[in-house]
Amino acid sequence: MNSKITLSVIKADVGGYVGHSCIHSDLLEMAKERLGKAREQDVLIDFHVARCGDDLELIMTHTHGPDSETIHKLAWNTFVACTEVAKELKLYGAGQDLLSDAFTGTVKGMGPGVAEIEFEERKSEPVIIFMADKTSPGAWNLPLYKIFADPFNTAGLVIDPAMHEGFVFEVLDAYGRKKITFSCPEEMYELLMFIGAMRRYMIRSVRRKDGTIAAVASTQKLSLIAGKYIGKDDPVLIVRCQSGLPAVGEVLEPFAFAHIVEGWMRGSHRGPLMPVAFYEANPSRFDGPPRVIAAGFQISHGKLIGPRDLFDDPAFDEARRKANEIANYLRMHGSFEPHRLGLEDLEYTTMDKLMKKLESRFIPE
Ligand code: F6R
Ligand code: MG
Ligand code: MG
Repeated sequence: MNSKITLSVIKADVGGYVGHSCIHSDLLEMAKERLGKAREQDVLIDFHVARCGDDLELIMTHTHGPDSETIHKLAWNTFVACTEVAKELKLYGAGQDLLSDAFTGTVKGMGPGVAEIEFEERKSEPVIIFMADKTSPGAWNLPLYKIFADPFNTAGLVIDPAMHEGFVFEVLDAYGRKKITFSCPEEMYELLMFIGAMRRYMIRSVRRKDGTIAAVASTQKLSLIAGKYIGKDDPVLIVRCQSGLPAVGEVLEPFAFAHIVEGWMRGSHRGPLMPVAFYEANPSRFDGPPRVIAAGFQISHGKLIGPRDLFDDPAFDEARRKANEIANYLRMHGSFEPHRLGLEDLEYTTMDKLMKKLESRFIPE
């Protein structure tokens, strides 16, 4: 029997209510029913069903390890059952993130986003699960850098000897389908050179130098999987906290700055990532601006004690106010860059069709 616990967060957009702004409660109920049965049958130790905007988030603990066919199949079947509910209610984009009709052993590459972390439960195990809507996995690069490499953010990098050695970042090249690790603080500048290009390079995991796993992010890019625009990837991130790892407050701190990410309307605009309480994770204005929620749990013998809604704190009001100010400013640009992404980056590319239509009208200059 595996003494380690696995925390799996598997998410998909299987139907929006209304449009792409939120999820109907019937989908949440269906997901709870399915995962509840799996817990009764001891497939799961525990679960929590959450949502961020139009994304359904299955948070599960078990002992099957990461990439378990049993757990992925459970998630897939849950999404299929929720899709049926979404179809019945004619919710928007029912089943949009399920790119195949059949399960083939893993949900990876099939549409859903996945972050899984396996660990020996510590004496006390505080974790934060971040869930975002209307943006893509590169959105975690800046906060992960600040949490694990910036002493101005994380006082523990200076004060706690357990963190003095620093952290190792695994970075994925989403276009080259390659990965590389950077050891920090020694390779901070090299790391920044890559992760600053957050569309292509995405931090996938962070470990302490002694090998302790500290963070894992979902890095699936739907557009790369499907070869055409399906939706934004709306990523998740798991971070373990405290006693030799960054404190809960150090992990939340980067989000007090609503940094600019890609996503928002039609996945084609830059906007601020607004940290919000669970009940405010309903991106409506211009289908946004992009949102992030933070669910805090204490894990006890695999049981999920929580969640605590960690951005439900007036200390993040200023970040929200600033995000609205930046959103107003960017919106004034309408269809102009840098609000709209550059042509090469546009997810919905009408450009091909438009070019064909206008081709004959372009004359040499
Ligand atoms: C962005 C997103 C929405 C849709 C937009 C148009 O990730 O999901 O902004 O792109 O509402 O949706 P369609 O093309 O389905 O009408
Ligand atoms: Mg959607
Ligand atoms: Mg979404």
